[in-house]
Amino acid sequence: MKAKVLITRLNDGKIHSGQSLATEFGVSRTAIWKIIQRALKEGFNIRTVRGHGYQLASPVDFLDQEIIVKNVESVSSRPLALSVVDEIDSTNAEVMRLLARGECVTPVVTAETQTAGRGRRGQPWCSPAGENIYLSMGLSLSGGFSAVDGLSLVLGVAVADALEYLGAAPVGLKWPNDIFIDGAKVGGILVELQGELQDGVVHAIVGLGLNVHMTAAPAIEQAWTSLALARPQLTWSRNALVSTLITSIADASDKFQSVGFAGFRSSWQSRDVFFSRHIMARDGELQGVGQGIDHSGNYVLRTIEGDVAVRSGEISLRFAS
Ligand code: BTN
Repeated sequence: MKAKVLITRLNDGKIHSGQSLATEFGVSRTAIWKIIQRALKEGFNIRTVRGHGYQLASPVDFLDQEIIVKNVESVSSRPLALSVVDEIDSTNAEVMRLLARGECVTPVVTAETQTAGRGRRGQPWCSPAGENIYLSMGLSLSGGFSAVDGLSLVLGVAVADALEYLGAAPVGLKWPNDIFIDGAKVGGILVELQGELQDGVVHAIVGLGLNVHMTAAPAIEQAWTSLALARPQLTWSRNALVSTLITSIADASDKFQSVGFAGFRSSWQSRDVFFSRHIMARDGELQGVGQGIDHSGNYVLRTIEGDVAVRSGEISLRFAS
């Protein structure tokens, strides 16, 4: 039996004894105990109430393929090849495999949990089950590899637009593509390019990790937040978020193809968390005041020797303390 079936039963918030669950599902109490242990390992927050049974600490907002597809199709005529999976190594890795098999033009994969979620610069991405969004899309862009310049910044704008549409404003962007709320990271974007270039078409695998319901993550070292922590007055539905994000990313990618990065520059600048702040790069070797991005999407620092443009992927920027 899948952990998801048991969690769905516990989703009423009540305490269920091991015996009642065992009877209901026609398995032994030991089998129930094993599933609970597996669910705990996957990151579900289940309390054991001694002498009484099991209870979910908070309701799980499961992803639902049908709801997401219906929502996306109601606002766009775009056919959607969406897979919603319980567990995957990495949604980016899965989109790469789908593109390599050539089965769909714009594959979209979202998962309840990732066992090998990856972040930028080889960092792992914390992916507890049922809490957050792990979403990847395979975008095909014409114009060769240079056509992809600026795409990751454009995606930051698309994600910020979607979150603000759903009520999370103001949403900030930390160059090159971290999503910030109230001075802490709420999400990140990883863009990976598929090696093959056919007829000038590049496949960009766009992966978004967004913290939604998460309230604890001891493994994350930097300042982080989640939508539930930062905007607790709103009810966050992962299905509504995923649908809005898919639509916003696909629309932004279409607009990027027709007008280029210029169409997004001012939207990016208005959300720049580094603007006018004292920041450093290259482990402190380079220090200056944030000036925003130039026409190519490089970040400009005003140093005592003049303005220096920092290239995406070259180095990372951080606040000088
Ligand atoms: C970052 O380091 O800020 C980028 C994090 C990107 C994480 C997402 S989660 C969905 C997709 N699958 C992955 O393995 N990574 C990206």
